[in-house]
Amino acid sequence: MRTHHCNEIRPTHIGETVTLIGWVNTVRDQGGVIFIDLRDREGITQCVFRNEVSPEAAALSHKLRSEDVVQVTGKVDERLKTEEVDTKNDKLETGEVEVTASELVIVNKAEVLPFQLEKELSNEDLRLRHRYLDLRRPRLARNLRQRHTLTKAARDYLSEQGFIEVETPILSKATPEGARDFLVPSRINPGQFYALPQAPQQYKQMLMVAGVEKYFQIARCFRDEDLRADRQPEFSQIDIEASFVDQEDIIVLIEGMLSSMFSRARGVEVPVPFERLTWRDAMDRYGSDKPERRIGMEMIDLSEDLKDCEFRVFSGAIANGGVVKAINAKGFAGISVGQIDKLTKLAQEAGAKGLAYIQARDTDRSTWRSPFVKRMTDAEIEALRRKLDIEPGDLILFAADQWEPACEVLGRIRLEVAHLQNLLEGNDELDFLWVTEFPLLVFDEEEGRYVAVHHPFTRPLKEDEEKLRKGELNGLRAQAYDVVLNGYELGGGSIRIHESDLQSSMFEALGITAEEANTEFAHILEAFKFGAPPHGGIALGLDRVVMLACREDSIREVIAFPKNNKGAEIMTSSPAPATATALRDLRIKSTYVEKPKSESPTFRD
Ligand code: AMO
Ligand code: AMP
Repeated sequence: MRTHHCNEIRPTHIGETVTLIGWVNTVRDQGGVIFIDLRDREGITQCVFRNEVSPEAAALSHKLRSEDVVQVTGKVDERLKTEEVDTKNDKLETGEVEVTASELVIVNKAEVLPFQLEKELSNEDLRLRHRYLDLRRPRLARNLRQRHTLTKAARDYLSEQGFIEVETPILSKATPEGARDFLVPSRINPGQFYALPQAPQQYKQMLMVAGVEKYFQIARCFRDEDLRADRQPEFSQIDIEASFVDQEDIIVLIEGMLSSMFSRARGVEVPVPFERLTWRDAMDRYGSDKPERRIGMEMIDLSEDLKDCEFRVFSGAIANGGVVKAINAKGFAGISVGQIDKLTKLAQEAGAKGLAYIQARDTDRSTWRSPFVKRMTDAEIEALRRKLDIEPGDLILFAADQWEPACEVLGRIRLEVAHLQNLLEGNDELDFLWVTEFPLLVFDEEEGRYVAVHHPFTRPLKEDEEKLRKGELNGLRAQAYDVVLNGYELGGGSIRIHESDLQSSMFEALGITAEEANTEFAHILEAFKFGAPPHGGIALGLDRVVMLACREDSIREVIAFPKNNKGAEIMTSSPAPATATALRDLRIKSTYVEKPKSESPTFRD
């Protein structure tokens, strides 16, 4: 249907007759002469309809509307450029030429669109309802292509390294990744359910027992959890597992893969190796296990300097075995009362009692605005000045609590301050890093038991292995690692347990009885008895990698048909009620009935 695509014609084609096909991007009527920008996925070419060249085509061109699909045949001409007029367009790659049409076929008319494609639209539901139109926008079209480029780069790289792609079941069994499962009823086995995989974790470990040695998969994963900008109920992982490897091998492999992906997609060299931080350091300095380091503002420990402080919030926390930490928001002393209140509220929502602050307006402490500075000695003030590098105009924010909650709260405040100060505007830097030595277990107060920080197949550090076998569970560290980019967790993985008895100790530590383990995880415990190789792996969130490579701030912008924030795919209206027949076939008799909050919901036939 065409001789060239719409981003192909250059001055070398002048004089040739070409045929193009695509969408009418814009129509301009200039004194009876119609100009259109013809668009296909590659770009735009200007076409012009002149009465003296073809009266039929010119007459028809008056009927053109945006987004009609048309086929244009004509001669490539140089665009006019004289001293008085310059019709060349240096914003278009085809901007030096135009096609003077001799034939026009209106292939398919378009009705008036529900929204204009050139303008950004804030109503996301409207965009998603007509996603096929939304995806015609150059930004989204580019994102889809980048996704392909990045996925292909990963496949190529892993294949070169000897990895093979193996598919694992979608109708599968629950795997404990920490979210809720999506369940699928089985018609053939009434009352039984498949779970959609939260990740192919157990299958990939079984492939290691099977001797595959190097596995990867662009794997669909399903998690029924609350949605955020970087979370979808259905997402893709670059899922990897290898035998006879240690943590170092996985880290080197992933650094190679990510740098190859970013150099293909963005044409930038990503320096390797990435820096590494232990989990403890990351929490201590940035208050997060996925630190955004580009905003600076490291958290400083002031416990030693403030332990005798007359301000009880500080000295009391330290006397209780806690810490006082602070950040210096440079040049933010002019923060408004409303903003301070907002930050304090945020700190309280994160579990703090309050948010102590100093607005250091000028050098002398008498100019400092703060609820407690009066109660500090000169020596304490000097310690603050020195450790926090306080200069006129700075804002200091404090957290006083036990170490972990203090770090977490101040970590959140740090990110919010960066947001208020617009610190990342225009910052195109890529800050990759590894976070290592995660805790193996964390005590869940609500459940009154230990839960796995990563998942129950994660191996402790060598020096902590004996402790796990003996049931000494406090402070165990894992051979687990996360790769972080610009404050986002791109991926996480671990070296696994491969011995049946150590895996049993792990289940025991998690309060899973031997009986439960033998029914829920019988396959794993059994498989590990038949010569399981040492193995480990990682999974990267593909959507997040693509989002960051495309400089987007939501993964919905890089997924062709994402769910909205209520978990609905509104173009096709899913989820939707099932018919009575479908439910009967599945032996599901009941309909869920929503009741007022005071009563619990019931089921009705
Ligand atoms: P984990 O649960 O850390 O590990 O997931 C790996 C990566 O997947 C991405 N991710 C998500 N992306 C979008 N929406 C979601 N709801 C979502 N949840 C997770 C993140 C995350 O880092 N089986 C283990 C990996 C392993 O141990 O090999 C696992 O799934 O980028
Ligand atoms: P108060 O002595 O209650 O008036 O508190 C003085 C200041 O300390 C207020 O700005 C509080 O928000 C703040 N504050 C109270 N508790 C804490 C805490 N645990 N960590 C940091 N700041 C706090």
